[in-house]
Amino acid sequence: MLLDPYNRRLNYLRISLTDRCNLRCVYCMPEQGVPKLIHEDILTYEELLRLARLSVRLGIEKIRLTGGEPLVRKNIGDLIKVLGEIPGIRDISLTTNGVLLAEQAQALWAAGVKRINISLDTLNPGKYAEITRFNLFDQVWAGIQEAERIGFSPIKVNVVALRGINDNEILAFGRLSQEKPYHVRFIEFMPVGTENGWSTERFLSSDDIFKKLQVIGPLYPVNGQGLDGPAKRMAYDGARGEIGLISPISEHFCPSCNRLRLTAEGRLRVCIFSDDEIDLRTPLRNGASDVELETAIRTAILQKPKEHPIQMNPLPRKCQRQMSKIGG
Ligand code: 5AD
Ligand code: SF4
Repeated sequence: MLLDPYNRRLNYLRISLTDRCNLRCVYCMPEQGVPKLIHEDILTYEELLRLARLSVRLGIEKIRLTGGEPLVRKNIGDLIKVLGEIPGIRDISLTTNGVLLAEQAQALWAAGVKRINISLDTLNPGKYAEITRFNLFDQVWAGIQEAERIGFSPIKVNVVALRGINDNEILAFGRLSQEKPYHVRFIEFMPVGTENGWSTERFLSSDDIFKKLQVIGPLYPVNGQGLDGPAKRMAYDGARGEIGLISPISEHFCPSCNRLRLTAEGRLRVCIFSDDEIDLRTPLRNGASDVELETAIRTAILQKPKEHPIQMNPLPRKCQRQMSKIGG
């Protein structure tokens, strides 16, 4: 078991496969994008698998692949297959922006991914182009439909709540959870990265979203937090899907945090908001033994903070790393 100094059991690793992305969401990066890692800086699949195996040996049971956009990395199906064969792995999932999902969903399914998270902040194609700076709503929607057709379950739709941008669509997303078997999850906008446009004016709390959602009917709690992490789950009566509220700002879930993050260049990030990272790539490439790497991971974990300092009052301290280089 991998325990941190506050007795939290860390069993969930988010692996960022690449810092590249085929979108430019306004809350994530500037229009011109952000400086990219060079190819040599990014962990190879072989390197990544070695770290994954060691992490699983230490106590990781659940892996999520993120980006940037994970589906822009080549042959991800091959990687997933091998990851799935690591003894001790119970779950492999993926967070994607959906742009390449329609064409890759079948291969992902065949590789062993059974559930998937898709980021979609609006149901309006014009608004989608404004938020992501690409006119690709239809393509993403087709990806979601294809995932549903193939049988992915659950299909989680991640909506970053942005006051003044998509708050007029909360009810439309509520209805989507009634009509489709999707878990619509509203995520509070986080001040991550230096140029993500975060401000108190743009921030919309889960509480406000919850109040708004009840306009179309009462919401009932859904049990079974299990592997689901920090979302507060609920559903409308008779709905095919669910609603989830994720409140990193208004209600810290730090006390139950079970996560570690591995960046594309092989740094272990012990808290989404903390820029204290531990470089595993250098020892890896310098021929470190398994024991040495395990020790490095264990030492990193000692740095996991008790909680993050982000709250509404006083104003948050921003962390430097761009969300596209953390992977959510
Ligand atoms: N605040 C909240 N969520 C964010 N995401 C990206 N940037 C932010 C932010 N600043 C979301 C993406 C995706 C997930 C990985 O994180 O939309 O759903
Ligand atoms: Fe948007 Fe995610 Fe790409 Fe950032 S990494 S631009 S949030 S799709």
